[in-house]
Amino acid sequence: MNSAVYPGSFDPMTLGHLDIIQRAAKMFDHLTVSVLDNKAKNALFSVQERVSILKEATKDLSNVTVDSFNGLLIDYAKQQDIHISVRGLRAITDFEYELQIAQTNRKLSQGTLDTVFLTTSLEYAYLSSSSVKEIASFHGDISQCVPEFVAELVYEKFKEHN
Ligand code: PNS
Repeated sequence: MNSAVYPGSFDPMTLGHLDIIQRAAKMFDHLTVSVLDNKAKNALFSVQERVSILKEATKDLSNVTVDSFNGLLIDYAKQQDIHISVRGLRAITDFEYELQIAQTNRKLSQGTLDTVFLTTSLEYAYLSSSSVKEIASFHGDISQCVPEFVAELVYEKFKEHN
């Protein structure tokens, strides 16, 4: 089976992430979207919350499953018997960072984990989870950045925080 993993922080999942998930799901027999459980990052949503948001957003995609991982991506991919990592590229500014991660993963995995890049659809090229959080923290409109149910959850979080 031709499987791939789409790893990320997804804090929160944006329409840009969802666009990559939908397109990758058409390219592979199975896609695992996996949330990095990174204790070092000060996340708005817990890993469990991010996983349930992704599950809700992908419930109609029958070949997509949602999971979480900690540690190295190469170890997780090996454990899952997955040999392709999918990442979205928004702009040239993403490229240097993504190239470094992709090359590190390929080297560390001795060539068993390769990365496939999908260029983000133009309408989502400006989007990032960080900007969604910043806009929401100032009560701005994030309705064009995330699905409606996610926007509600983000606003709720900022109510809790204030
Ligand atoms: O959504 P993000 O934060 O840009 O995703 C980054 C991610 C999760 C893909 C990357 O940080 C990752 O894979 N981390 C796991 C640790 C790892 O494998 N590091 C080695 C590559 S430098």
